[in-house]
Amino acid sequence: MQAILVTGGCGFIGSNFIRYLLTESGYEGRVVNLDKLTYAGNPENLEEIARQAGQRYRFAKGDICDPAAVRAIFQRERIDAVCHFAAESHVDRSIVGPGAFIETNVQGTFTLLEVAREFAADVKLFHHVSTDEVYGSLGPVGYFTEETAYRPNSPYSASKAASDHLVRAYHHTYGLPVTVSNCSNNYGPYQFPEKLIPLMILNAAEGKPLPVYGEGRNVRDWLHVADHCRAVWAVMQRGRRGQTYNIGGRCERVNIDTVTLICDLVDEMLPDPGAGPRRRLITFVKDRPGHDLRYAIDCRKIETELGWQPRETFESGLRQTIQWYLDHREWVERVRSGEYQRWVKLHYGA
Ligand code: NAD
Ligand code: DAU
Repeated sequence: MQAILVTGGCGFIGSNFIRYLLTESGYEGRVVNLDKLTYAGNPENLEEIARQAGQRYRFAKGDICDPAAVRAIFQRERIDAVCHFAAESHVDRSIVGPGAFIETNVQGTFTLLEVAREFAADVKLFHHVSTDEVYGSLGPVGYFTEETAYRPNSPYSASKAASDHLVRAYHHTYGLPVTVSNCSNNYGPYQFPEKLIPLMILNAAEGKPLPVYGEGRNVRDWLHVADHCRAVWAVMQRGRRGQTYNIGGRCERVNIDTVTLICDLVDEMLPDPGAGPRRRLITFVKDRPGHDLRYAIDCRKIETELGWQPRETFESGLRQTIQWYLDHREWVERVRSGEYQRWVKLHYGA
């Protein structure tokens, strides 16, 4: 692989992945980042890397649903591999407005696959980044394996499931060299503060209510984004073509325990003795419709076949993440206020 097209590289995981690829992974080729810069995508996440990497990094503002734009990049940049992160990614938004999820996650993936098929002679790999949510919800016991039947429950997970099936079909039917990874909940720096962990960190720091859905008994399997990035690269390098790999942290936590841990860590790291413990801010609110009870990944396949294992523990990763959000208040203000979107319009047009 000499010229990797990363889609959605200005988002949370995509920007962490590009930083990892260009600085730590040992990869010596070029990266082209195609991103539409929705509310969740910010080129500033990679400003420093863009400066350091010089000719090895290029950014293109564009939509994965636009075949002409995608084709032009394949041609101009001599793309020989794809790592596809671009998506609408927030379950709550998919409940309120599913249309954008079908458009980007299904139509966008289809468009990329079609262009990859046109350039089949050059394309060595199409890696598709997906989610454990395609498997639906677990009861109190059991794990998702690569053999678990798909049972997506939200418009988000249904759109990701559709995209997974398209990727699989392009391998089966056209012989496109693909790999797929299905990962559990990520946390870490640069996550848009609509997802549980950054939302709770910022609200706790600012003394705002901490909205816990339902009774807070849902379980998520947390993985630090750096561990996810290493796993994706391991799959791209050594994964068997046509295969799926589950990625998870062996780190199940009940939501209310995650939120109370965040409260306690923020109390310690940003003391506010006059106001009392942050746990006072926890507020149980109406549950998310169709809320999946529990996700838990069996990641033995990637461990045994590719030798990948998570390195970060939840407690130290969470502490580091809290520190990052406390140290990057300007970034937070810009993404929350929409200032980035004005900056994007100024620099890149509508
Ligand atoms: P994110 O919402 O932070 O970033 C998504 C990026 O995609 C943004 O930069 C956005 O501008 C871009 N984008 C959206 N629509 C686009 C389009 N039509 N064309 C080009 N770019 C577009 O998402 P994330 O949390 O970084 O997730 C990245 C991928 O990883 C997604 O495919 C998601 O399904 C998957 N995933 C996420 C998690 C998680 O916990 N966040 C876990 C498992 C899998
Ligand atoms: O499992 C992987 C998935 O994890 C990814 O595919 C998705 O892109 C990612 O958004 C994430 O989905 P979740 O729905 O699990 O993440 P979220 O951070 O939205 O919610 C985590 C849990 O916390 C979930 O049980 C809902 C709950 N929650 C969430 C929010 C935002 C709350 O209780 N209160 C909140 O305010």
